[in-house]
Amino acid sequence: DWTMAAYRQEMIAKIRAQVGKGKVICGLSGGVDSSVAAVLIHEAIGDQLTCVFVDHGLMRQDEAREVVDLFRGHYNIPLVHVDAAKLFLGELAGISDPETKRKTIGRLFIEVFEKEAKAVGGAEFLAQGTLYPDVIESISFTGGPSVTIKSHHNVGGLPERMNMKLVEPLRELFKDEVRALGRELGLPESFVGRHPFPGPGLAIRCPGEITEEKLDILRKADAIYLDEIRKAGLYDIIWQAFAVLLPVRTVGVMGDGRTYDHVCALRAVTSVDGMTADFYPFDMNFLGRAATRIINEVRGINRVVYDVTSKPPGTIEWE
Ligand code: XMP
Repeated sequence: DWTMAAYRQEMIAKIRAQVGKGKVICGLSGGVDSSVAAVLIHEAIGDQLTCVFVDHGLMRQDEAREVVDLFRGHYNIPLVHVDAAKLFLGELAGISDPETKRKTIGRLFIEVFEKEAKAVGGAEFLAQGTLYPDVIESISFTGGPSVTIKSHHNVGGLPERMNMKLVEPLRELFKDEVRALGRELGLPESFVGRHPFPGPGLAIRCPGEITEEKLDILRKADAIYLDEIRKAGLYDIIWQAFAVLLPVRTVGVMGDGRTYDHVCALRAVTSVDGMTADFYPFDMNFLGRAATRIINEVRGINRVVYDVTSKPPGTIEWE
């Protein structure tokens, strides 16, 4: 793609001009955006870049291992793996308000990044895979008045006291363009095609208070749901699909016994850029199959519902 080949060269020149001989740390989330940003910046400035993968304990099943393998194994990009699950889950304990969750997570990310910036000998730049829709959505909502719908911590939540400059090479791009750039940079197709995953991770898919127990239940349900989506050949048609664990328990019956367990909501949407989205019209047999597997295989869930809300009026994530 000539457009992306040109963009790649243009951004490499811009990154070099901005950074000079400085050091950069780049937060990796496991998603496409931060991975593409990291590979692009590495091409521009080589070992002046250190990637930091913060495992906040809010990752999906196997996600942490997959990201570390990709960067250490496939690329030779220096990667620091910070195990911060205790820190994040400790600070999040007892918080159920969505914006407070997001702001807490944003603040902790900054604390970890500042510490890692010192550890690499004083990085003055922080790189992020911020996209154009992230910039827009944290400022206003589809042409309406200036209202914050959600604090995307990678845009609005950076505290003023943070004494690092931002490097955001994807700030002008939409998701499909980032994927094209990822292909241009030679990222594996399995990675380029991944569904988006939000920085705050499973915290915003677990309405109410977050506990390790709930996160474990959610991880299992989510993995089964995605497995069924892949088996049905639907993964690449869908923009994003995930399970949400509701803070509601309902009565059920299993074998001869009464159950009183959580409700799991399934979400799947099609979209071009994440700014608007349509719920995905699954075949009922598919939904029945996914629900049966989740209830049979995940202890702690006895009811599954499907979210048929588009965006607007819903948002893609539940918080
Ligand atoms: P919403 O829920 O606002 O999500 O309709 C739109 C897209 O953005 C993702 N999302 C985030 N990504 N940090 C991110 O990096 C965030 O804080 C965040 N919140 C939502 C969401 O998964 C969807 O793809």
